[in-house]
Amino acid sequence: MRETYRIDLAACYLGERVSHPIGKGSGQLSLNPGQLEDDAAAGLAFAVLKTVIAEDETGARAMAAWAIHETKMKVEPRPAGAGRAGWTVTWKGRGWDRPFSDYLALVRAGRDLTRAGRLLVVPSVKYHLPRLAEPFREAEYRYTTAQLANAWREPPLLVEKDFSPTLAGDALADDRAQILRWLREVPPRIRAASPIPVRVAVKLMNARFDDRFQIEMMEACKGADALVVFNRLFDAEQGVAFGGWDLSDRNLRVLDSYRPLPPSTAPYQPLAGTGNICSGRMIIDYARRGCESVQVHTFFQVPLSEYPATHGSRPQRALHALVFHPRDGLIAGMLELAARGELERQNGELRFLDLRAHAHRAG
Ligand SMILES: Cc1cc2nc3c(=O)[nH]c(=O)nc-3n(C[C@H](O)[C@H](O)[C@H](O)COP(=O)(O)O)c2cc1C
Repeated sequence: MRETYRIDLAACYLGERVSHPIGKGSGQLSLNPGQLEDDAAAGLAFAVLKTVIAEDETGARAMAAWAIHETKMKVEPRPAGAGRAGWTVTWKGRGWDRPFSDYLALVRAGRDLTRAGRLLVVPSVKYHLPRLAEPFREAEYRYTTAQLANAWREPPLLVEKDFSPTLAGDALADDRAQILRWLREVPPRIRAASPIPVRVAVKLMNARFDDRFQIEMMEACKGADALVVFNRLFDAEQGVAFGGWDLSDRNLRVLDSYRPLPPSTAPYQPLAGTGNICSGRMIIDYARRGCESVQVHTFFQVPLSEYPATHGSRPQRALHALVFHPRDGLIAGMLELAARGELERQNGELRFLDLRAHAHRAG
């Protein structure tokens, strides 16, 4: 990319430098070492493992309702306003549904790929979230984090904490004060629970409140080292999470009004975008609102006829389209911004990370 196009796609996730911004979001596509191996071979920048439900040393899990087993996923068109055709994956499952020991084996496989410099792999956890009057179950935080640290071995441990759409749809998330308490208290609790230095990304949900509350959530979560913005929407009538254009419209609208502080300020809190990323242009839309990398899920699952490439694994075909599509790819989009004078070359190169400068308010 640098030699041919003079474009430097270097990006960041959770404080780690990665060679480009495209990673895989947590879910059904990061359940086993074979999937991770394919991701590494395709050249994905990073992969977040499926969310595991925290447990204590006796195996008790306060959030056990999220560990249900469900295999069937349905990839469906999801039209949005203005005749835009999008995609969603309909699925009734929730978190990791096998023993924690199996998850730790997957973390070790991910650690080996990370150490080999082939793919940055990050585990994801759903820890206990109490009602306002209740205490946090610290034993679950301690045991789960210590086991992950043990599997990972060398600091820092990177962890993503998931606030999922099904949580947004649950009665637990009816109360704004309760949600804000979680966001304030969960990152320091994970830090306190870890025997080794840890970096925490919080994947925020789309709560069932207005856009202003999304911003309040981001501001309450100052203790996190990064925010992933924002998990899928929840359809209360059908009882399922969904994506597509409604999701990216909402996410981008909220990020427009957030305007993060620039990286030169402390404490700087990086963003990673997720939601309906099916083109390089959409990556640019998230990047220009402050995101340093993106997490894709649905675009790895669309029908094969949606990819211009006629061979290769799904991650390969998806990456090919996201980066090289002559009209909607990342390269085309960055060159267009440069031609319009909205992205400047530095030492002759266009840099992906310079896109975020567009988002920042004055420090
Ligand atoms: C079937 C399915 C399962 C998912 N499971 C998880 C999960 O366990 N943890 C999590 O943090 N996000 C989960 N996600 C959310 C994705 O990681 C991603 O953030 C979201 O789907 C938005 O990206 P997309 O529009 O590219 O799908 C899941 C998404 C799908 C479609």
